[in-house]
Amino acid sequence: MIITIDGPAASGKSTAARLLARKLGASFLDTGAMYRAVTLAAMQAEVDMSDQDKLLGVMEKSEFQFSLRDGKMVVCINGIDVTEQIRQPQITANARYIASSPKAREKLVEMQRQFASGWQKIVTEGRDQGTVAFSDADIKFYLIADSLERARRRQAELRAKGGDQSLEQIQKAIEERDKSDENRTVGPLRPAEDAIVVDTTDLSIEEVVEKLLSCVKEKCLKKN
Ligand code: DC
Repeated sequence: MIITIDGPAASGKSTAARLLARKLGASFLDTGAMYRAVTLAAMQAEVDMSDQDKLLGVMEKSEFQFSLRDGKMVVCINGIDVTEQIRQPQITANARYIASSPKAREKLVEMQRQFASGWQKIVTEGRDQGTVAFSDADIKFYLIADSLERARRRQAELRAKGGDQSLEQIQKAIEERDKSDENRTVGPLRPAEDAIVVDTTDLSIEEVVEKLLSCVKEKCLKKN
């Protein structure tokens, strides 16, 4: 069983995917972490990020490992745990180079399918999971939320880690990422035709997970 959850930055998909996976006893894949890991490897190698072949070279030379620990994704590059490091703002800002490279995307989609093939049940989240990576997924969700609400959530996350940034700055950065995600020619952010769209603006994370879970149960009942 493959369940995809796509949506814009800070729409709650990562937490929702992790919690839904836990409730279903399924595996979980945060594909944004893969884009972030390649970004970090390219930054460490100091390559020109607009050069697709150089990016591919970095991908081929580095050993990426994505695994699950306590239901959370752990990311290693050449055996070094970079799970925290890939969340840094410079990585967030530079991830768009990898995200807009057709060759890098193709390779990452291949890695995502490879990861999923090792599990009977998986919840995978990103931007193109329902449209490209798993277009034949059993259930597809597309989460949306107002950009101000998404900025509030990001700010709370940042504060919990000791950081701070104005709400306006965060909202502007989120809207810029939306534009870049929606307008790239490969794997753009958009709902699959058969995706269930869930607006999370006024919902708590528990309510979102309950909603997704009831859709999964309904779909399973129809199948049987
Ligand atoms: O979800 P996130 O913020 O961790 O994603 C990091 C970057 O990777 C962001 O620029 C969008 C991109 N991305 C993508 O293009 N396709 C995916 N399936 C997942 C993430």
